[in-house]
Amino acid sequence: MSKFENQCVVVTGGASGIGEATVRAIINEGGSVLIADLQEERGQALVSELGSRAAFHFTDVTREDDIVGAIVLAQNEFGPLTGMVNNAGVVGAIGSIMDTSAEAFDHTMAILSRAVFLGIKHAAKAMQPQGRGAIVSLASTAGVVGGLGPHVYTMAKHGVVGLTKSAACELARIGIRVNAVAPGGTVTPMTSALGDNNPETTAQFIADSSPLGFACMPQDIANAILFLLSEDARYMTGHTMVIDAGETTGAAPPPFFSVDADILLHAGNRGLDQ
Ligand SMILES: NC(=O)c1ccc[n+]([C@@H]2O[C@H](COP(=O)([O-])OP(=O)(O)OC[C@H]3O[C@@H](n4cnc5c(N)ncnc54)[C@H](O)[C@@H]3O)[C@@H](O)[C@H]2O)c1
Repeated sequence: MSKFENQCVVVTGGASGIGEATVRAIINEGGSVLIADLQEERGQALVSELGSRAAFHFTDVTREDDIVGAIVLAQNEFGPLTGMVNNAGVVGAIGSIMDTSAEAFDHTMAILSRAVFLGIKHAAKAMQPQGRGAIVSLASTAGVVGGLGPHVYTMAKHGVVGLTKSAACELARIGIRVNAVAPGGTVTPMTSALGDNNPETTAQFIADSSPLGFACMPQDIANAILFLLSEDARYMTGHTMVIDAGETTGAAPPPFFSVDADILLHAGNRGLDQ
């Protein structure tokens, strides 16, 4: 039996990038997916390609009714909701905090934070009768440390990490797991500006700053999302899985281990002698 057989998953922002890779991976593993996205043409094209276990619902995640509609359609098409991926996103407000308007702040937070809150809220309500389900939301390395993204993006993604912990505490008792993934730079349309809208240049740009020396692709993040959705992660909840080639651990450049061992030994001995 395939890992996602009889599973019904909603993926917001599923028409592009990480969301699209997640949709494809769930279909490959035998599951059914509702793509909830603003991009109708891309979403419908994906459904035509993937067949009867995929469906599309025009969804603006800033609208609570749209999120409810996506979940209702998914359940009508494919049965009880087993998985929810709160993935839709934009870069949002950029620039100095001194120049950022309250309107741009509100719009960015509505997509990156409020929509995740609404996604968890309505997925939990749909999953409660079955007493099981898994929710995965997209944070970012900008949700774990400062300085890796614009201010509002950073605040919103830290919010995703916090809400993941908080919701996990409440929902564990009713069999629903809530986790997040925190990717570093990944080659998608969102990051295409880094490489003049050329995926190969974008991949090279990301590879050049990666401790592992190659670029993170959407499939790398989809792999982690599928793991957290699956029974393989049945004892994990409230967790944010960082997928960044070690960037936020300070893995590059090697700060300590590259120093000559003799120098370290002598330095250590000097310290002991004193
Ligand atoms: N690409 C990266 O480097 C990176 C790194 C860390 C986190 N992330 C996060 O991963 C998620 C996916 O990003 P991606 O890189 O695949 O970007 P992407 O631009 O390829 O895909 C984002 C999708 O979200 C949809 N979307 C945007 N606003 C929406 C709305 N209001 N309602 C419904 N759908 C909406 C878009 O139409 C698009 O299909 C985002 O939450 C992003 O913040 C991305």
